[in-house]
Amino acid sequence: MSVREPSAERAALLVERYGSPLYVYDAERVRAAYRDFAAAFPYAPVDFHYAIVCNKNRHLVRLLHSLGAGIHANTPGDAFAALSAGVPAHRIVYSGTNLDAADLDYILSRGIRLNLDSVDQLRDFAARSPGGAVGLRLLVDEPSRPNRIGVDPAELPEALAIARAAGVRLIGLHMYAGTNNRSLERFLACFERMVAASALLPDLEELDVGGGFGVPYRDGQEPLELPTLGREVARRMEALSTSRGRRIRLVVEPGRILVAEAGSLLVKVISVKERGGRRYIGVDTTVGNVVVESVYYPHHRVEALSPRSAPLELPTDVCGNTTHSRDFLARDCRLPPLAPGDLLALRDVGAYGYAMSSHFLNRPRPAEVVLEQGQDILTTRRETFADLLATQVDA
Ligand SMILES: Cc1ncc(COP(=O)(O)O)c(C=O)c1O
Repeated sequence: MSVREPSAERAALLVERYGSPLYVYDAERVRAAYRDFAAAFPYAPVDFHYAIVCNKNRHLVRLLHSLGAGIHANTPGDAFAALSAGVPAHRIVYSGTNLDAADLDYILSRGIRLNLDSVDQLRDFAARSPGGAVGLRLLVDEPSRPNRIGVDPAELPEALAIARAAGVRLIGLHMYAGTNNRSLERFLACFERMVAASALLPDLEELDVGGGFGVPYRDGQEPLELPTLGREVARRMEALSTSRGRRIRLVVEPGRILVAEAGSLLVKVISVKERGGRRYIGVDTTVGNVVVESVYYPHHRVEALSPRSAPLELPTDVCGNTTHSRDFLARDCRLPPLAPGDLLALRDVGAYGYAMSSHFLNRPRPAEVVLEQGQDILTTRRETFADLLATQVDA
C-alpha cells in the first residue's frame, strides 16, 4: 500500500477542522498491516497481541481487537487502557518487569495472564497464587550483550523448584529481541535459544516471540522479511509440537509494525530562515509533542504537503516552536520552497509518537483523528493549558 493518507487536500481540510498540529491515523492502513502480519505466521494455534504501549488510541485498539488481536500489556496502565477499550481480560497477556505488590494484585485480580521477568518475581507470584500457572520471560541474549530483561536459562532449574514447591505450573516462555529490529537472523537466533530452553519445562503450553518487529523509517532501508520470519518460526513450532506430542501455542506481540506507518503528524510552517547555506523551517509543534530520533530511534520522514516545485538542494532543518537546543523535528531534509502557512506531514508517527509525547516544554498535546472509510473521527481532543497543570494541587 503506497498511497499516503492524509493526502495534501485532505490534510488541509483536517487542519481547518481540527487545528494544527494534528495526529492523523489511517485505519485502513492499520487493517492492512494487521492482515499482512497475521498472514505471515502459518501456524496454529497462534495468538496475536497488539502491544498497546506504542499507541493506546482507543479507536485503533478496538479496531485491532475486532480483527482478532488481543493486547500485550507492559504495565498495569497498559492493561487498564485495554480493559477500558473493552478488551476482555482473557485476551490480554502481561509481559512486563519489576511489578510491585500493587501491580501484581491489579493484574492477578483481573485474571490477566503473566510472563514474569525474574526469579524474585516468581517467588512473589507463588506466594499469591499457589497452584496457579505462569510464564517466564527468558534472557535470550548471549552474555557478551548485556541485557536486563528475563530469567537466565541457567536459572530455570531454580525457577522450576520454586514453582513446584508452590504447585505453580510454568507453562510458557517469552522473549523480546529488542525494539525496531529488522534483522531476521537476530529474531531467529533468539527464538532458537528460547526453544532450546523450553525443553526444561514439562508443562510447556506456549512460546511467546514478543514484539520488536521493525519498520524502515528511512528511504532505502530494507523492511524486515516478515513472511520468511513467520515461516521459519512456524517451522520450528511444528517441530516443537511434534516432539511434545501436543500443539504448543505461539504468541506474538507486535506493536510498532501494526501502526507506525498509519500515523502522520500534520504541522504548519510558521517561519522560514535561510542563513549560512542552510534553511530553517520553523513549525507549530515541538519534540514534546512527538518523539524524535535522538529520543527513541525513529527517523521520521518529513514531507511537504503543498510542494510548489521540486526539493531544493539546500540542507533544511525542521525546527520546533521552543528554543530548547534539541528542538529539531528533523535535520538535513530535502524539501521544496516553503512559506508560512504551508503544511508538512511527519510520517510514520503512529507508534511511539503520541504515546511518547509529554508536557516537557509546556506545549499542550495535539488532537488525534482517525480516518475511517472516508470519515474523519476525532478520538482525542486537543489539550489546553489547563491540562498542563491538571495534576498539581495547592498545599
Ligand atoms: C514485551 C514486549 N512486547 C512487545 C513490545 C512491543 O514492541 P514493538 O512496538 O517494538 O513491536 C514491547 C515494547 O516495549 C515489549 O516490551
